[in-house]
Amino acid sequence: MTLENKHILIVGGAKGMGLATARMAAEAGAKVTITARTKPSLDTALSVLPDSVAGVKLDFTDAASVERLAAAVPALDHLVLSASSNVAWGPFADVDESGLRAAFDAKFWGYWRVIRALAPRIARDGSITLLTGAAARAAMVGTSGLAAVNGALEAMAKTLAVELAPLRVNTVSPGMTATEAYAGMPAEAREGMFAGAAAGLPVGRIGAPEDIAGAILMAAANPFLTGATLDVDGGAHLAR
Ligand SMILES: NC(=O)c1ccc[n+]([C@@H]2O[C@H](COP(=O)([O-])OP(=O)(O)OC[C@H]3O[C@@H](n4cnc5c(N)ncnc54)[C@H](OP(=O)(O)O)[C@@H]3O)[C@@H](O)[C@H]2O)c1
Repeated sequence: MTLENKHILIVGGAKGMGLATARMAAEAGAKVTITARTKPSLDTALSVLPDSVAGVKLDFTDAASVERLAAAVPALDHLVLSASSNVAWGPFADVDESGLRAAFDAKFWGYWRVIRALAPRIARDGSITLLTGAAARAAMVGTSGLAAVNGALEAMAKTLAVELAPLRVNTVSPGMTATEAYAGMPAEAREGMFAGAAAGLPVGRIGAPEDIAGAILMAAANPFLTGATLDVDGGAHLAR
């Protein structure tokens, strides 16, 4: 189980879990390419990663941008999808149709578009790992929109594991993890939310990006793992 000299493309690798995955993969000897939506975001990430890491601009809501990515990455061993933006967060009655459609347009259709474009370019003994989220199966109040988007990806991934075989397809389902995803919140509200979530978890803390990155790289490297969903959520998926 090694990623040494393997080419791993990390969509959303400029921040959060994707960035931690890029760092750990490069340290493991992989050839790493990351994507971000803008050049400043790419440059910021590349400045803290080993020199060997490459960057490509991608907005996966734009089909032409996905085509440019495919042209820039003609061959790879492992694809990791760790990007997210519009999130349909909130009570069912408060998430309107346009909000939920925007969430699907971003994450579901973005992942779908990238997989469609790149799957034929992935080595047959390689893998695809999709980041989903504990809300997909944990039935947590206020997360029906997250459940719908991430549940759709988990369902699709299992079918892809059979249809695209021997290429392996797995999902990693994180729980609440301290990343740039929460950077827009006032610090006090964010820390309060993190503390509340931590108190409700068996492990007593929320996730760090490295917790998730370790599972992503295990899913990519393990040649006997496919069609699996790894819950890396501090126990959030357990009934309590
Ligand atoms: N953090 C959590 O608590 C949590 C919990 C459960 C599941 N998840 C899931 O875990 C994954 C990683 O989350 P994270 O918190 O590490 O994310 P993050 O820190 O917010 O980073 C998101 C990355 O996605 C990229 N991105 C956003 N919109 C994009 C688009 N339209 N096209 C291409 N790239 C785009 C961003 O690009 P730029 O660098 O250009 O901004 C950024 O690099 C996501 O799938 C998320 O839904 C997160």
